[in-house]
Amino acid sequence: MKAIRIESLDHEGRGVAHQEGKAVFVDGALPGEEVEYSVFKKKPKVDFANISKMLRESPYRVKPKCPNFGACGGCSMQHLEASAQVASKQRVLEDALWHIGRVKPLLVLPAIHGPYWEYRRRARLSVRYVEKKGGLLVGFNEKRTRYVMDMDRCEVLPARISKLIPLLRKTLGELSIRAKIPQIEVVATDQADVLVMRVLDAPTPADEKALREFAEENSVHLYLQPGGQDTIRPFHPEAGASLSYSLPEFAIEMPFRPSDFTQVNFSINRAMVKRAVSLLAPHPTERIADFFCGLGNFTLPIARSGATVVGFEGSETLVERARENAQANGILNASFLAADLFRMNREKFAELGGFDKMLIDPPRAGAQELVESIDEKETPERIVYVSCDPATLARDAGILVHRKGYTLQAAGVINMFPHTSHVESIALFTNRPEHAGAREMLGSEI
Ligand SMILES: C[S@@+](CC[C@H](N)C(=O)[O-])C[C@H]1O[C@@H](n2cnc3c(N)ncnc32)[C@H](O)[C@@H]1O
Repeated sequence: MKAIRIESLDHEGRGVAHQEGKAVFVDGALPGEEVEYSVFKKKPKVDFANISKMLRESPYRVKPKCPNFGACGGCSMQHLEASAQVASKQRVLEDALWHIGRVKPLLVLPAIHGPYWEYRRRARLSVRYVEKKGGLLVGFNEKRTRYVMDMDRCEVLPARISKLIPLLRKTLGELSIRAKIPQIEVVATDQADVLVMRVLDAPTPADEKALREFAEENSVHLYLQPGGQDTIRPFHPEAGASLSYSLPEFAIEMPFRPSDFTQVNFSINRAMVKRAVSLLAPHPTERIADFFCGLGNFTLPIARSGATVVGFEGSETLVERARENAQANGILNASFLAADLFRMNREKFAELGGFDKMLIDPPRAGAQELVESIDEKETPERIVYVSCDPATLARDAGILVHRKGYTLQAAGVINMFPHTSHVESIALFTNRPEHAGAREMLGSEI
């Protein structure tokens, strides 16, 4: 048996160490720990291993709250004390910025973090009928397999949703179409809870009766999805649910449909939007772009400043929703355009008309085409970049700093998904190096 000292955590929450010139990824091991390990998979430059004996434990090791931790693919960090999780994500962000983008923020922003349990307002639960496991399984996928976890509760879902897991197992397990339900999308809001059930076969009248009873007994809105996203329809109650989340700091109520993209952690979203708007410091005389705007999560709060805001988004449905949401909130100074931002180029960018400031909130792939399209001679004064992947943020930060003349004033993490290794972050770039006093510039926000 070999002993090893763990140096850091990787982006999947595994302990990383080095032995004889090779990296070793040890499942469940924490930085500072000394462990004996056994390799279960070998590659030329890396070994993947499990802990076979703990020799020295980290002071930040805690008992995971969930009995399925380690096996379930949902969480990877429950064994690490909450504030140490945030510190580790901060390190992942700074490492990526430096190693990929060769940039360092002048200021590391205090992390945005909030409730650690029951925070997930949206989740996709897999469903599988497995005879030898005693029937139907409902839950997240197991770690590194496509099997569904045999689980009866989940600590990161709101308790009322977690309680539904065994009830769903029972009710769906008795349906004639039990083997034809691959997944359930959960949306939990303050007004209503929605379950969107993907069905590969139509439910029989007896199935329908059982589903109606389930919806009534558990006060949920049940939707069925027989095909693609556009086939989602309320099943019971027939009228469907009115869903929304609020951004009280900006007096905004954001209605949405079950299939619309929304951030999954509503309370962290509030703090994130507040920080993004204060970093952007919008002014009524300015023209501001919100790229990858979705249903207007940042656009509408920015517009409350009086600035003229244009939201750009790839999904026509979300553009439509953003327009409706602006109207519902009495906002007249925000407009929205559908655009494929992965096909942006200099000419198209110039045609958008100049912007004083920009917010960018791309999917994991980042916004390389967009940042490359910025004219070096007419750069927007500030860019706030919200990222769900430190590697693509770092790549784009390198372009902004080394090729477009920006300074990375500040960057910090947002713990949108506690107990997972997912790193959400926010960064502020300005085109004025004399803004070196980032702390003063950020004012009350930090
Ligand atoms: C991380 S989400 C952010 C949405 C919004 N800012 C929010 O906070 O709710 C990324 C958004 O990018 C959009 N998107 C994905 N690919 C795109 C593309 N090629 N062009 C434009 N938008 C795209 C998605 O539809 C999604 O709304």
